[in-house]
Amino acid sequence: MQADPQQLLEAAQAVMGRAYAPYSQFRVGAAILGASGAIHVGANAENAAYPQSQCAEASAIGAMVAAGETRIAAVAVVADRVEHCPPCGGCRQRLAEFAGPDTPVYLGRPGSEPLVVTLGELLPLAFDSGALGR
Ligand code: THU
Repeated sequence: MQADPQQLLEAAQAVMGRAYAPYSQFRVGAAILGASGAIHVGANAENAAYPQSQCAEASAIGAMVAAGETRIAAVAVVADRVEHCPPCGGCRQRLAEFAGPDTPVYLGRPGSEPLVVTLGELLPLAFDSGALGR
């Protein structure tokens, strides 16, 4: 499945507008291109009990799984306060459950050239199901 980075970034930006981030004011949107070609989106959803907050990538993964998909072909992340929003460490691990090391991750905003990295660059030597013998 070939990704259109601008289409994915647009989907991430659109859902970023629905982020619930009253504590950090740091709104994030993530768009996942599933192996089927469908796009799954999610925004960060914060909580007054701060550690219960959920990142945009985790929300998008939940939407993907709810839609019946478990393979990620590409990811885009958009934030309104920074030009490039690198996924946090926990989200790198979450994405690695469903994506390979060559999976492209587009960081930026629609309309400008994204920073393109692979998941393997973001999370080298990932701990995965292979370590558990599965
Ligand atoms: N955040 C994400 O949604 N994704 C990331 O990968 C980085 C951080 C959110 C979590 C929190 O709601 C806000 O950004 C500030 O950390």
